[in-house]
Amino acid sequence: MRQRPQTEILYRDSCALMPGGVNSPVRSFKGMEMTPIIVREGKGDTICDVDGHRYIDFCQSWGALILGHSPDHVIIRAAEQLARGSSFGIATPYEKELAEIIVRHLPSIERLRFVSSGTEATMTAIRLARGFTGKSVIVKFNGHFHGHSDSLLIKAGSGVSHLPEASSKGIPEELVKLTASLPFNDIQTARSFIRSRDDIAAVLLEPVAGNIGVVPAKREFLEMLREETAKKGIVLIFDEVITGFRVGLNGAQGYYEITPDMTCLGKVIGGGFPAAAFGGKKEIMDMIAPLGPVYQGGTLSGNPLAMCAGIETLRTIEKSGFFSDLEQRLEEFLEPIRKTIERKKLPIAVQSAGSMFTLFFGVHKVESREDLSAMDEERFKHFFRHMFERGVYLSPSAYEAHFISSAHTDGNLQIAQSLILDYLNKL
Ligand SMILES: Cc1ncc(COP(=O)(O)O)c(C=O)c1O
Repeated sequence: MRQRPQTEILYRDSCALMPGGVNSPVRSFKGMEMTPIIVREGKGDTICDVDGHRYIDFCQSWGALILGHSPDHVIIRAAEQLARGSSFGIATPYEKELAEIIVRHLPSIERLRFVSSGTEATMTAIRLARGFTGKSVIVKFNGHFHGHSDSLLIKAGSGVSHLPEASSKGIPEELVKLTASLPFNDIQTARSFIRSRDDIAAVLLEPVAGNIGVVPAKREFLEMLREETAKKGIVLIFDEVITGFRVGLNGAQGYYEITPDMTCLGKVIGGGFPAAAFGGKKEIMDMIAPLGPVYQGGTLSGNPLAMCAGIETLRTIEKSGFFSDLEQRLEEFLEPIRKTIERKKLPIAVQSAGSMFTLFFGVHKVESREDLSAMDEERFKHFFRHMFERGVYLSPSAYEAHFISSAHTDGNLQIAQSLILDYLNKL
């Protein structure tokens, strides 16, 4: 067992100050039934905890760090800006620069607005859809996580995936009624629901679900949603907070070649700093203040450090071959794992998209939240702890995606791969 005396003390003291000792529930390792990691620093693919233990990091700030920890050029650019001012609450040229890069690669976005978190992006996107259509109902899909705003914390994924009716106390029943959560990838159910209602403002989804583990949408499912929403003037919103600039330069919408009306972005676009955005058709976006009657604002929105880090990050990943290389490296990492599972006929599904992946223990294929009823959470916990003890940090939940970055070295990928193969071979 790795001894973590500093971690134990810090965690105990943190618990006396902050609920659960953390500022976001999944960090608490509650499901893993162990003291969480408390990290001091990170570089490239490796993080170091307060006790000096090193871990190869497959969480990468929940997918935000596509270049790994502290990439030199991003840090230098952000530090240069820091010396010139960290926040103004006034427009800067960097917002325009980052917006230009984003719309170049996501042409469905004609106008966009920066905010500081994915939660703000999705929360405002649905407000805008409601303002634009004059309708109230939001359709989402079971297990999809769109942050923690009241309307969207209904049968959500991520930190509340383990709850059968994942939700939260504190959300008024009146609001719950305005969100319909349907089974993902179920064409019949979604189609007849949309056809049967005239009060739907928006259909919102993760085109590749990442918050029940990696579960890509079926192409026909997305095509159906596009067709049915277009017919009824419903705003189709892709939540690409994880997938944007992660599953490819053109996001999941580029991969599927489906044009949503609105898109939410986060994680990668801030280069490790807090930045997110929502954007889409001009006619919808022009409804937002100061042009229109739908209100949204933020002191730190378009924060210059985040904008500069985002610009440097996107400039790096838009270089030719970046995504194909990353994807190929993940495939090489996963191939022997898949083969071993097949050879040993283990009940484990390995699913991936771009540079994100999940090992689902106890199931053979996952297309929706409903397919996870047989999920072996105990086995995942055992696996997670096994890897953690040996210096590999995975996302600490059976219902999450793991991520590789361009900073993952071949050597470290091999180390992690051998550990996983050893583990599987002993099952
Ligand atoms: C798909 C998706 N949307 C929205 C969010 C919320 O983003 P944030 O944590 O920045 O509020 C997340 C967070 O993981 C997410 O995965």
